[in-house]
Amino acid sequence: EKGGYEHFMIKEIHEQPKAIKDTMTSRIMSDSDEIVLDDIKLTKEDLDNINKVFIVACGTAYHAGMVGKYVIEKLARIPVEVDIASEFRYRNPIMDEKTLLIVVSQSGETADTLAALREAKKAGARVMAVTNVVGSSVAREADDVFYTWAGPEIAVASTKAYTTQLIAMYILALYLGRLNGKLSVEEFRTIRDEMLVLPEKVEKLIQNKEELQKFADKNHMHRDMFYIGRGLDGSVSLEGALKLKEISYIHAEAYPAGELKHGPIALIDQDIPVIALATQEELFEKMVSNIKEVVTRGAKVISFALEGNTDIEQVSDQVVYMPRTISILTPILSVIPLQLLSYYVAVIRGCDVDKPKNLAKSVTVE
Ligand code: F6R
Repeated sequence: EKGGYEHFMIKEIHEQPKAIKDTMTSRIMSDSDEIVLDDIKLTKEDLDNINKVFIVACGTAYHAGMVGKYVIEKLARIPVEVDIASEFRYRNPIMDEKTLLIVVSQSGETADTLAALREAKKAGARVMAVTNVVGSSVAREADDVFYTWAGPEIAVASTKAYTTQLIAMYILALYLGRLNGKLSVEEFRTIRDEMLVLPEKVEKLIQNKEELQKFADKNHMHRDMFYIGRGLDGSVSLEGALKLKEISYIHAEAYPAGELKHGPIALIDQDIPVIALATQEELFEKMVSNIKEVVTRGAKVISFALEGNTDIEQVSDQVVYMPRTISILTPILSVIPLQLLSYYVAVIRGCDVDKPKNLAKSVTVE
């Protein structure tokens, strides 16, 4: 059932090109300017009435939501707040019939996420579910549904569910932006065409695993690691750190790189490897300066950058290059080496990769 792989997690990492492709198929197409979403009934009139979007989720799905906020605000120009479901429920959020609540849940059964959905419905909000399970509780109770077509995810650590949730966020952002007219057709086509070639780029990244095995060989004995990035790289850093924590039990912290000097840099020394994401073209120089700050304090840095941005080599011990794409789409690519890195570190440490201690695949208690 593991299809020749040693663990479900590595099998599911390899399934990502297909999962991403399946999630785009029949929704965005190279020869069409339409976006086809069968289970979304939201009309232009509905959208014109909406003045606020909440994205609510837990764990990895919350990290996908952070990217969702960024892209919906950028492409559809609607204010978006992202919340952790277990916090959202208890903070009396301001919602009414002008609110759109998007819940993101692989299983569709997470108790806090489902409770947030019910809370929103009670307040008269429109509710949309992004889920991987047909007929799950959130799918049944939402007004609109976007199914990710990742296929069953068995490993506790989420991989292909996350990348397909990102695809869902991009397609929804394109959809909302076209529906309310904030996104031009030219801009739409540029993003769509770049999205359609992502599966090949993900495939290429998965094949290039030696560098991550090399990093794991050298660094699996460390007790702590830092992940830094700016903008969308900051959100992916959080996801990378979560993957490492949950399967390898190494303490990992993710920080927006510019925030380091406001406190956490006090912890940096030669015993804490720093994983630096520098895929955002507009923020690249700023990231190089942030990396210098940690190098000065003795840190060994592995950087992730787009092909051609070789300046990063001057401040890094190791650089992993990624195929170029437009800045908003880089999370789909940059998370792949971080998943592999966590996987190899956990394997070398002899951890039970698919069933980490203390964790369950679906959290149906509050
Ligand atoms: C981490 C992980 C969890 C889930 C979270 C939400 O790898 O899998 O953080 O993302 O428990 O689960 P769903 O998406 O089923 O609501």
